[in-house]
Amino acid sequence: MSTEITVIPGDGIGPEVTAATLRVLDAAGAALDYDHQLGGITALQQVGSPLPDATLESIQRTRVALKGPLTTPSGSGFRSINVALRKEFDLYANVRPARTLFDGGRYEDIDLVLIRENTEGLYVGVEHFIGVGDDPRAAAESVMIVTRHGTERIVRYAFEYARQHGRRRVTVAHKANILKYTQGLLLDVAREVATDYPDIEFEDRIIDATAMWMVLDPYRFDVLVMENMFGDILSDLMAGLVGGLGFAPAANIGLETAMFEAVHGSAPDIAGQGVANPTSLLLSACMMLDHVDQRETGDRIRAAIRSVLARGEIRTRDMGGSDGTEAYTEAVIRARA
Ligand code: NAI
Ligand code: MG
Repeated sequence: MSTEITVIPGDGIGPEVTAATLRVLDAAGAALDYDHQLGGITALQQVGSPLPDATLESIQRTRVALKGPLTTPSGSGFRSINVALRKEFDLYANVRPARTLFDGGRYEDIDLVLIRENTEGLYVGVEHFIGVGDDPRAAAESVMIVTRHGTERIVRYAFEYARQHGRRRVTVAHKANILKYTQGLLLDVAREVATDYPDIEFEDRIIDATAMWMVLDPYRFDVLVMENMFGDILSDLMAGLVGGLGFAPAANIGLETAMFEAVHGSAPDIAGQGVANPTSLLLSACMMLDHVDQRETGDRIRAAIRSVLARGEIRTRDMGGSDGTEAYTEAVIRARA
């Protein structure tokens, strides 16, 4: 029996890496039916809304989405559709694994998982300008929201994830020394939740020091959990440990719905050139296959990616090679995905 999923190719390199991913999924015999939907700038241009009702209705029905990156204008313009989707479906846990897949990165054998809180923190978008005199933008204010409920469920998710995946340690990275209320609450709740998991080591660490140790000695970490913006920043850093944003998948998990996407954005600097590395979205699709009980197919695709990268004959530009998306995708398919 096949599972219907919503597919949103998105903006920039989105359509290129999505097409590559679907080709690999089909070649691997994934039992999936695709409901193609629009989102982002592409949707705004074609149907007049960056998040059309049809897209929301599709995700409401399928409960699983594979999504390419969506461009968000900086400063003015519409709010992030990514943030809107995470809020709409209460996709509270953003799971971002970073694993070494090929030699030639800065480190060998990295195997880390960052669990980012996805619905609270500074990214709730409660912000406004404060006018002074004739300057309407003399100052600006953003509010960081942390709730006991939101913190408890994300920290619990991290511990459950650690247990289910045989991991030894959970690190909560925070800034409770300076943000005594928001981050102080987060740290207190994390400590409470940790007592329910005596089988998993627990430590807390200040976020800036965490960033330093992550570069100096990433092996001291295992599963990390943190608020939204810290997780956004640190997960790009973690991608850098394993060869860059081309290798960083993500799953946005809610109680009923899940959305799988790459950590990277729409990469306008290389869009339309056929040079994007599709591995991030491919690995996200593998996480999706795990989610819909097609783990064996996901494992086969992961093995095919590893074998192509190990042989090193085909390398996209971000890996220091000169092969395009198409050549790389074909190599993964030939490696018996
Ligand atoms: P970006 O992640 O799109 O690109 C950063 C750098 O990494 C660029 O030099 C790009 O060429 C490179 N890169 C990214 N993905 C790559 C891939 N698969 N293969 C090879 N190189 C790759 O970040 P940027 O430029 O800051 O953001 C561009 C747009 O994407 C913005 O509008 C931003 O809001 C949006 N964005 C969307 C996300 C999403 O849909 N989840 C996540 C992050 C950003
Ligand atoms: Mg990001």
